[in-house]
Amino acid sequence: MSIVLKMEGITKIFPKVIANDHISITLHKGEVHALLGENGAGKSTLMNCLYGLYRPDEGKIFIKDREVVIQNSDDAIKNGIGMVHQHFMLIPELTVTENIILGLRQSRAPLLDIDEAGRKIKELSERYHFNINPHEKIKNLSVGMQQRVEILKVLYREAEILVLDEATAVLTPQEVRELFGVIRKLVQEGRSVLIITHKLEEVMGLSDVVTVLRDGKVVGNVITKKTDPKELARMMVGRDVLFDFHERHAEVGKPIMSVNDISVTDKKGVRKLRNLSFSLHKGEILGIAGVDGNGQVELSEVITGMLPFTGGNITIKGESFGALNPRIVYEQGVSHIPQDRQHTGLVLGMSLMKNLILTDYYHAPYSKNNIIDYDLVDDHAADMIKQYNIKAPTTETIASELSGGNQQKIILARELCREPDILIAVQPTRGLDIGATEFLRQKLIDQRDNGSAVLLISTELEEILQVADRIAVIHEGQFMGIVRKNEVDINELGLMMAGNMRSPSDSICEGE
Ligand SMILES: Nc1ncnc2c1ncn2[C@@H]1O[C@H](COP(=O)(O)OP(=O)(O)O)[C@@H](O)[C@H]1O
Ligand SMILES: [Mg+2]
Repeated sequence: MSIVLKMEGITKIFPKVIANDHISITLHKGEVHALLGENGAGKSTLMNCLYGLYRPDEGKIFIKDREVVIQNSDDAIKNGIGMVHQHFMLIPELTVTENIILGLRQSRAPLLDIDEAGRKIKELSERYHFNINPHEKIKNLSVGMQQRVEILKVLYREAEILVLDEATAVLTPQEVRELFGVIRKLVQEGRSVLIITHKLEEVMGLSDVVTVLRDGKVVGNVITKKTDPKELARMMVGRDVLFDFHERHAEVGKPIMSVNDISVTDKKGVRKLRNLSFSLHKGEILGIAGVDGNGQVELSEVITGMLPFTGGNITIKGESFGALNPRIVYEQGVSHIPQDRQHTGLVLGMSLMKNLILTDYYHAPYSKNNIIDYDLVDDHAADMIKQYNIKAPTTETIASELSGGNQQKIILARELCREPDILIAVQPTRGLDIGATEFLRQKLIDQRDNGSAVLLISTELEEILQVADRIAVIHEGQFMGIVRKNEVDINELGLMMAGNMRSPSDSICEGE
């Protein structure tokens, strides 16, 4: 197959990091080429160099053997390169057609062009079964549909090379399958596609070849059929990734928190939690499984004191509370890894070192007489960066500049270094790559083995099966059963997740 694109020795240096270090890749006609790497490996930077958003410090780009200089996205488009970004670049108030022709040079009167553009967009939409109305406003479209508009935009400009940056991150499994179908059609038609991803299943399921990046360098280039997920993971992370945790050795202890018959009703009068009861024991990980949106968020907010509940009570370390607030919960030795790390978990505009003391800045050792000891805070941050392997240039780095995995590590460091008795972790690995996921799961296990209690709320069943000792399945705000992990199979859990209550006689199992 002929070569359509060659990037040779691309180097891009940011003030504190070499994001791309002499990277070379070759893309052939009709090929799906995966660019695989952990968060921060340099994938987006490389593609931004290709699309003219960044200027590389070194290196050459060839389109079909001809060297090109790409100064901006217009140059990229002229060279047949189209990019669908990780974050969409659409204007919500404008229609599909307006968004697609925005920024294109018009040869004729704008009104005429709009009609013509609308027709061409409709044609394209039909060809790829996109089911998009060119006159619909972007704000009325689902995320999956908006992504299709981004793809249409690229096809409208007649791109021969399509770049998709983490395209599946925002899609449901169903939409992912449809997107894969579209990509297959595109390459059958002779176009070439570069997919950027950190997900091994995507690489295995879609690509012809894979280039693996680590720390800004190419560490491997293999034909997908000739490799396997294990080898790819090893290249990506730089060591074997086992996901193979030791059997528990700590004994399950006494209950440390119990939730007794609590309910939550939202503002519209809808019951979000119905008479939930469970107890959490020292030295165990209790997993709360369930399909997203079945009361998990409400449950986590209730037990962390963020959401009031009706009826019942919550007992923490023997003390019973009819109402909670975050301060009480916190001072009882409860730590919390919230679902939304960017809003609840961190102050994104603040430095890493300040984020690390968000919850404890007001008392010793960080403060004396209301004055924060910044030397100490700085030392503490340096220590945490080391212990938690946070990839950040300095303790003063602003949280928003770090990758998702490293942001999550800040939260983890902050919440664990106070040695909590109870850890509430909500979707702790969402959006993280393999290395960071494995690291986080191991920390949950370490907590348990040190005798703490861990409540893990996750919509990923695989995650729950990997680390939990007991599993409670939540459906429409109710528990369908609480079971020991070794006494249940996936089918049974699936049935509970779909709303089938386990028979009452064995539905609740207590930790020993
Ligand atoms: N505009 C920028 N300024 C400074 N550093 C950046 C910028 N963009 C990316 N980086 C850094 O470059 C490295 C590679 O980032 P990126 O290409 O976004 O990785 P990936 O897409 O593989 O997750 C990271 O260390 C990141 O922090
Ligand atoms: Mg990226």
